[in-house]
Amino acid sequence: MRNRILIVCLGNICRSPLAQGIFESYVTEKDILIDSAATSNYHQNASPDHRSIKVGLKHNIDITSQRSRQIKASDFYDFNEIYAVDQSVFETLLKLAPKKEFKHKVKMIDNRDVHDPYYGNEDDFEAVFQHLDSCIQKLIS
Ligand code: 4NP
Repeated sequence: MRNRILIVCLGNICRSPLAQGIFESYVTEKDILIDSAATSNYHQNASPDHRSIKVGLKHNIDITSQRSRQIKASDFYDFNEIYAVDQSVFETLLKLAPKKEFKHKVKMIDNRDVHDPYYGNEDDFEAVFQHLDSCIQKLIS
């Protein structure tokens, strides 16, 4: 079966779009689908944050075509792995799972939180990029 991976953060404009772009840059197999979503509905259909776009482009990753969306019940059926970027998102996802048997699909992308850079500066976005890049490399290996 096709491996389907969903990466989730709070707004789907800063961390998870970058995570999606980084993941896609490492995956060459066509049978892996990667997508990202938000727990909130704060930024429905918005482009990624300009600071995430900028740090991505600096590392040759173009996330400009992504649009924010909120996670929906069907995602728990459709994806086989759902990665939270931090503990708060992880706990929200466990509550949102429409069936108990889907809770095992929900995992942390790393054993420490990928810090929310929304109220931060460019350096915070670079730190998020580096953190995501290293934990995604670990996941793939
Ligand atoms: P993200 O960052 O969860 O990495 O997309 C945030 C984006 C927006 C907000 C918080 C975090 N917000 O409060 O609007």
